[in-house]
Amino acid sequence: MKNEYLPYKVTIASIQKESFDTNTYKVVFDDEKTRDSFDYRQGQFAEISILGVGEAPISITSSPSRKGYLEFSIRAAGSLTNKIHEMKVGDSLYVRGPYGNSFPYEETKGKNIYFIAGGIGLPPLRSLINMTMDNRSDFGHIKILYGSKTPDELCFKQELDEWKKVENTEVWLIVDKPCDGWGCSIGVVTELWKDTDIHPKNAVAFVCGPPIMIKFVVQKLTQSGFKDKDIIMTLERYMKCGIGKCGHCNVGEKFVCVDGPVFTYEEIKKIPSREKVI
Ligand SMILES: Cc1cc2nc3c(=O)[nH]c(=O)nc-3n(C[C@H](O)[C@H](O)[C@H](O)COP(=O)(O)OP(=O)(O)OC[C@H]3O[C@@H](n4cnc5c(N)ncnc54)[C@H](O)[C@@H]3O)c2cc1C
Ligand code: FES
Repeated sequence: MKNEYLPYKVTIASIQKESFDTNTYKVVFDDEKTRDSFDYRQGQFAEISILGVGEAPISITSSPSRKGYLEFSIRAAGSLTNKIHEMKVGDSLYVRGPYGNSFPYEETKGKNIYFIAGGIGLPPLRSLINMTMDNRSDFGHIKILYGSKTPDELCFKQELDEWKKVENTEVWLIVDKPCDGWGCSIGVVTELWKDTDIHPKNAVAFVCGPPIMIKFVVQKLTQSGFKDKDIIMTLERYMKCGIGKCGHCNVGEKFVCVDGPVFTYEEIKKIPSREKVI
C-alpha cells in the first residue's frame, strides 16, 4: 500500500521573481512516470517540503492545461518558505498531493467571469485564469480585478499585460501606495467598483486574498446582486497533514484541506463560526 505521506522529489527548473518577498518556482518531477501521470485540477494545492526543515501547503499556480511541470508562487513567510527562497535552479524540493477540491470549470462555461484577487491571492486563481485563457471561446466576458499594497507587490506582471491583450478580457489594477508613473487606480480593490461595471447577469466571481479583503469584496458582490452560490473563494487555514487526518484545518464541520480550499459563499454562510473565516 502506498504511504500517503511519501512525497515526490522535484527539481527546480526556473525561478521567477514576482515581488520583494514572492518568487514563482517551476519544478519538474525527477521520476519521468510521475511527470506524465501527475494530474491535478485548477485550485488544488500540494504539500511542499524540504527534508529536515518542514512542509507547507502551497497552491498549484500552473494550469492543468499546460503539461510537464508544476509552478508554485511562494512568499517568504516562515521557516520553510524562507529556506525555499535561498534555493537555486537545480536544487531539489519534495511535493505530495495534489490535495483539496477545485474551482468549478465545466459549470462556468458560457458565463461572464470575474477574477478578484488581493496580493498573494492571485497565485491560486492563476491556474484557472490560464485555463480559461487557453479555452477562451468557451467563456463570456472576463474581468480580472487585482489589488496590492504597492505596484512592486503585484504578481505575474508580464502575464497581466498578456491577459489584457486577449479579446473580450479586461485587467483592472489598483494599489494602496502608487509609485511614480503608476497609471492605474489607487485604493483598495473594492474601489474598482467605481471604475468598472460589475454585473451579476450570467456571471460568476472567483475571489482570493487576505480574509479582510474577501469580506469586503463579498459584501460588494452581494450588494451588486451576485447570488451566494456564484461567489466562489479559496480559504487558507493552518494545515498539517493536508489529507483530513489531523484536524488542524477545521472550520465548523468542514476540513479545509479536503472539503476545500474552494468554497462558495453559500457554503461559507452555513458554517456556524464563519465570522472567523472571512
Ligand atoms: C490551501 C493553502 C494554499 C496556500 N497557498 C500558498 C501559496 O500559493 N503561496 C504561499 O506563499 N503561501 C501559501 N499558503 C500559505 C503557506 O502554507 C503558509 O504561509 C505556511 O505557513 C508557510 O510555511 P513556513 O514554514 O514557511 O512558515 P511558518 O513557519 O509556518 O510561518 C508562517 C506564518 O504562520 C504563523 N504560524 C506558525 N505556526 C502557526 C500555528 N500553529 N498557528 C497559526 N499560525 C502559525 C507564523 O507566525 C508565521 O506568521 C497556502 C496555505 C493554504 C492552507
Ligand atoms: S490539515 Fe490535517 S485535517 Fe486538514
